Amino acid sequence: MRIIILVALLVPPLAAAQTASDSLTKGRALFRSNCAFCHGATATGGRGPNLLGQLSHGDRDEDIQGVIRHGIPGTGMPKFRFAPDELRSLVDYIQSLRKGKPAPPPPAGDKAAGAKIYATHGCSGCHEIGNEGSVFGPSLTRVGAARSYDYLKQSVLDPSADIPDDFQGVTVVTAGGHRYTGVRINEDTFTLQLRTADQQFHSFDKTRLKQLVVDKTSLMPPYRFGDDDLKNLLAYLSSLRGPVNANTDTRHATEVR
Ligand code: HEC
Ligand code: HEC
Repeated sequence: MRIIILVALLVPPLAAAQTASDSLTKGRALFRSNCAFCHGATATGGRGPNLLGQLSHGDRDEDIQGVIRHGIPGTGMPKFRFAPDELRSLVDYIQSLRKGKPAPPPPAGDKAAGAKIYATHGCSGCHEIGNEGSVFGPSLTRVGAARSYDYLKQSVLDPSADIPDDFQGVTVVTAGGHRYTGVRINEDTFTLQLRTADQQFHSFDKTRLKQLVVDKTSLMPPYRFGDDDLKNLLAYLSSLRGPVNANTDTRHATEVR
């Protein structure tokens, strides 16, 4: 009799623990298949930000849920359709990682010195911060909130490692022998539109081109910096956390699932 009572007392908490860990396992699987691609396998960031540090959109369960359900329009964060229990598991999993060991902070740097490096290396000839600079390459207004430190580092040292579709470089040679290289804005079966580094648009009839090459390397040249300069530049880039939609990018969040 006593044994039966003991068992009855023990079962409920065990079952609860079991479902909590089931939920985390499910959350991890969902994270791996839907989020790791941008946020890294352990959420420390990649093409998307580190989710273990301070979150610019809030760190309460409901903030994170809102971001997942609605995406962040005007940024690379898409919106997802999950069943309520999946959403719950995903948020539990992220919160469990956030409560764990914090990721080591990125190397310290002097962002004022980094701003000078940015100003003296021609970066603004291709990039915009706020309304200053060129729209040839991606806007860097919010790049510190949108990308992880390591991704920013790779972007500077090895830009060809990850070229977003929106900034694919294309080179064409016209029938007259003129050569144009730029960002592919639009392409269909018959036409191609490019934006060249001088921020001009060019439209081509593809059937009349002598050559059309989709570049394998980035339109951005790779840079070499000394250790300190690199740390300072990255401290500056990481500090760029302007508002979403500060620029003209008002696209709706794309839906993934
Ligand atoms: C295609 C890339 C991509 C995918 C896939 C993606 N994210 Fe994101 N995510 C981003 C980017 C980029 C941002 C930063 C947007 C910004 O604030 O500028 C972001 C931001 C976030 C934020 C807010 C971070 C903050 O600082 O407040 C959360 C939370 C988040 N993502 C969770 C997820 C989860 C969970 C998934 C999977 C269900 C996911 N993301 C899938 C790219 C992605
Ligand atoms: C000739 C034009 C050009 C110059 C000069 C240039 N960039 Fe870029 N940059 C681009 C293009 C195009 C991309 C997007 C394609 C890619 O990621 O390879 C890019 C991507 C980036 C990214 C990634 C942005 C994102 O949203 O992921 C960062 C960060 C960056 N550049 C920083 C810099 C810095 C810092 C400098 C100066 C030291 C610089 N760039 C100079 C054209 C340029």
